[in-house]
Amino acid sequence: MKNAQNYQFKKFLIHQFDEVESTNDLAFSLAENKQIFANQIIVASKQNKGRGRLNRNWESPIGNLYFSLVLQPKIAVEKISQISFVAVCALQIAIEKIFKQQKIDGEIKNKWPNDLLIDRKKIAGILLESKISNKICDFVILGIGVNINSNPAQTLFPSTNLKNFSCAISAVKMLEIFLEEFENLYENWLNFGFNNIRNLWQANAFNLNSEININLGESMIQGVFQEIDNEGNIIIKNHNNEIKKITYGDVS
Ligand code: BTN
Repeated sequence: MKNAQNYQFKKFLIHQFDEVESTNDLAFSLAENKQIFANQIIVASKQNKGRGRLNRNWESPIGNLYFSLVLQPKIAVEKISQISFVAVCALQIAIEKIFKQQKIDGEIKNKWPNDLLIDRKKIAGILLESKISNKICDFVILGIGVNINSNPAQTLFPSTNLKNFSCAISAVKMLEIFLEEFENLYENWLNFGFNNIRNLWQANAFNLNSEININLGESMIQGVFQEIDNEGNIIIKNHNNEIKKITYGDVS
């Protein structure tokens, strides 16, 4: 691979780039061409075409963490979306550990579908993409962006960064602490299924059992946030006591 510095961290092989368009795009094309495989990571100091969920732009200046991890789980296609919940939980535990070590206070919460908040502001987001052939999962690209030194000024939902909490951590160290936690939780999920992860995620969910609004793009839906189901959909109870399942949207 060109221009990359490679190093091994535990079972992960990390390919470090100064600048890429999007770590997800690069990881996807390399995985498609069988140039990288499970447990390999593309990390970049800067992205010129970073992407977020729902085709949004993900501002990616130097100073934050941008990476994509290739996974090749032998699982049913319906279970792929569970991986982003595994990842958010791992990131939450990782940041909690860093905060504890540095004696920093902050309420770290998971926001459906796959954001991490500190004190009600977005600190990190996940973009999960996959290639499926003949109803079998070929590979999954788990893309994560963590705001370490900066966050975008204009966002739909308020955002923040770790520096605002006087948290001193480099992007590489943040990645490694995440990987230590992810390795454990991913193993647990592969061996024992989604229940443990769902419980962990829900124990730290933003607005669980409260009234929420979900923006579906073309309309809004309101209700009390009940739980997430096996495919990571959000289940809400509306004002007519009807149970509704929502697959995508933005919670406000
Ligand atoms: C979101 O909250 O909308 C998801 C943001 C995901 C951003 C990360 S940064 C690394 C990887 N490469 C991308 O282009 N996007 C993801």
